[in-house]
Amino acid sequence: MDIRGIETPLLDWTGDTLALGLFEDAMELTGTLNQLDEKLTGTLQELITETEFEGKSGSSAVTRVGGGSPIRKIILVGLGKTEDLTLDTVRLGAATIARLAKQAKVKTLGISLSVVNDDPASTVSAIAQGIILPLHQDNRFKSEPEENGLKLETVEILGCGEQPEAINQAEILCSGVILARELVAAPANSVTPVTFAETAQTMANDYGLDIEILEQEDCEKLGMGAFLGVAKASDLPPKFIHLTYKPSETPKKKLAIVGKSLTFDSGGLNLKGSGSGIETMKMDMGGGAATLGAAKVIGQLKPDVEVHFICAATENMISGRAMHPGDILTASNGKTIEVNNTDAEGRLTLADALVFAEKLEVDAIIDLATLTGACIVALGDNISGLWSTDETLATQIKEASAIAGEKFWEMPLEEKYFEGLKSPIADMKNTGPRAGGSITAALFLKQFIKETSWAHLDVAGPVWLDKENGVNNAGATGFPVRTLVHWVLNQ
Ligand code: BES
Ligand code: MN
Ligand code: ZN
Repeated sequence: MDIRGIETPLLDWTGDTLALGLFEDAMELTGTLNQLDEKLTGTLQELITETEFEGKSGSSAVTRVGGGSPIRKIILVGLGKTEDLTLDTVRLGAATIARLAKQAKVKTLGISLSVVNDDPASTVSAIAQGIILPLHQDNRFKSEPEENGLKLETVEILGCGEQPEAINQAEILCSGVILARELVAAPANSVTPVTFAETAQTMANDYGLDIEILEQEDCEKLGMGAFLGVAKASDLPPKFIHLTYKPSETPKKKLAIVGKSLTFDSGGLNLKGSGSGIETMKMDMGGGAATLGAAKVIGQLKPDVEVHFICAATENMISGRAMHPGDILTASNGKTIEVNNTDAEGRLTLADALVFAEKLEVDAIIDLATLTGACIVALGDNISGLWSTDETLATQIKEASAIAGEKFWEMPLEEKYFEGLKSPIADMKNTGPRAGGSITAALFLKQFIKETSWAHLDVAGPVWLDKENGVNNAGATGFPVRTLVHWVLNQ
């Protein structure tokens, strides 16, 4: 599929299908739209009237154009109110168009939406993402890959200039999102700590990143007792992955991205019961998958920022070697943890990963993790929790999220709740009371950061969708690769 920006005026465009965006407060066909309607012998106005199309955000209408017209079909998408227009409006509009174009077996598609914030480059990028992301279909695990039905060959974006760089950037960004989706969607007998590390190695080879993979003995030497406690019951070796992107010039900033990378979470001896969603726990490396997705993009876009990508990969399993509920583990910063629940394993792996990240003397650390069911209860499937010790960093993440079209909600690091993690025998327990479970998880992680600016993203909800939404189909979403990349690019 070839996506390009073209200078051709709307009235002169010819091809299979023309898709137009309309605002609900500007539904009369005036100016160019009126001329287009005349050229199409009134088809536009007819479609609007017959379908009672009101331009509401998310709405759409499709019709064939009769009588030898150089355009075979028209798609209308609603853009909502003019004043509410954002990059996400055009991204979602483009996603609606992409799905309709696929259904209608369109080969050449013209898209005319609206320039957002007088920024045609970002607009084109958002439209390109909106086209590419919903059309991605994962056939890797079908013995006979079904025809995906996609006939779309050419997409021409009108009204924003050619924008080759913006389109190239969007394609690279989407390749990172798709890598993350494919890692999350792959089952735990396919993506294991070993194959996950191989994927990281491929990123390093393909994009010239430095890579260091710490084996179990290396982790032992560094005193990573928390990470290794989780890894103990697995028959597969743990892999502590450290990828580094270094710009050719002196970096403006040094950053670290740390992703929870449990390739499967059985719960350990606090085994997840039936009905707990245990069969979906292949997604528990969603944070690490997005970390590698971001590495893939950053390695290609080459910003002048140094970025460390860290994934402590293992499985949380059961066996005679498993850590027992009640075991006390010592993390690499010397802090001791009473494991009162082996199913709160993500925070144990992250504890050592955060200590490792802080030793790199970076300016900021973001961790991302499918950490708690409690965060899903609080914010649902569509919104990630965000905790930070630094308001500037939190603001940067929110700004990146607005460009990316991925949602975050800032939650409190309520120190008082740390009381729930007090242990009579060790420095802390790994779980507190049910109430405020995503907050105590964040407070637990905070114990492993001394002074570096830090933010924690609990992405347990948004990495996976039960039904299609926006640019995502049901299943793995690749959340929050786009936000991470924009955060790095905006430094
Ligand atoms: N990986 C889970 C959290 C999770 C739940 C992710 C649902 C995605 C969907 C995490 O390791 C876990 O088991 N958390 C426990 C914590 C509890 C034992 C304090 C939870 O949320 O129930
Ligand atoms: Mn768990
Ligand atoms: Zn987990």
